[in-house]
Amino acid sequence: MTIGKLIDGKAFAAGLREQVAEGVAAFAARTGRAPGLAVVLVGEDPASAVYVRNKGKMTVAAGMESFEFRRPASIGADELLELIEELNGDPRVDGILVQLPLPKHLDEQAVIAAIDPAKDVDGFHVINSGRLAVGLPALVPCTPLGCLMLLKDELGDLAGLEAVVVGRSNIVGKPMAQLLLAESCTVTIAHSRTKDLASVVHRADIVVAAVGRPEMIKGEWIKPGAVVIDVGINRVPDPEEEGKSKIVGDVATAEAISHVSAITPVPGGVGPMTIAVLLRNTLVAACARAGVEAPEGL
Ligand code: GUN
Repeated sequence: MTIGKLIDGKAFAAGLREQVAEGVAAFAARTGRAPGLAVVLVGEDPASAVYVRNKGKMTVAAGMESFEFRRPASIGADELLELIEELNGDPRVDGILVQLPLPKHLDEQAVIAAIDPAKDVDGFHVINSGRLAVGLPALVPCTPLGCLMLLKDELGDLAGLEAVVVGRSNIVGKPMAQLLLAESCTVTIAHSRTKDLASVVHRADIVVAAVGRPEMIKGEWIKPGAVVIDVGINRVPDPEEEGKSKIVGDVATAEAISHVSAITPVPGGVGPMTIAVLLRNTLVAACARAGVEAPEGL
């Protein structure tokens, strides 16, 4: 039995953050200011609060300015849209990220639509998703772009490969499929309602699992030698310690490891890439806004 490689997303992300920090220093030397990222957190969701704190820390560590806006869950739509308008007009702010999910009474699409597409470092605005779809330069959602970087690092040229994306969210599945298509993969988007998912997944040279169901994708579904990117972050009861929980992905990794040539672990695979790519997108947005060239290879 051969054992596949575990892809070290943590190390790759650290390297990317270092590259971004160098680009930030060059940007500051050229323009006299650091790129700025504004993060808006509405409500008290503890997981979101942890993400936002980490984003803030890593933004500062990369030499950028971090602006944080915490608002109560009871905020009205008008007040939130006013804040976004203010950030759109603030020359120190190159990137705007509104942490999702938002409380139910707020219309996420309307909030995203209010963000200046040039500052939309999440790549969620329809202008950016449209630009990605037609092959124009765009700000691209962080998690799928991070997955693509890991895939290219592992496989080099992806042209002609069969890629199956499991999951159809606007944040991961759909943009992931667009990115793989742009790399000339043959792309299938499968999801929780796909019939005979096992045989669809079995076709794939590349599997990207972003369906949000713990260990749904079984080891024997994987074609021998495939590369698997597991985007899932699912909290489940820990069978080894009563009353404790643990994080698992969307792929049954312990089974899959003997089928794959390489797979991202959970945690330590895709997770660390998201913030690193967010910093990258912020630098890219800052360069575009300032009319300076973005560093090569980002
Ligand atoms: N919530 C979960 N992932 C993301 C993300 O990539 N961006 C934002 N804004 N919210 C999220």
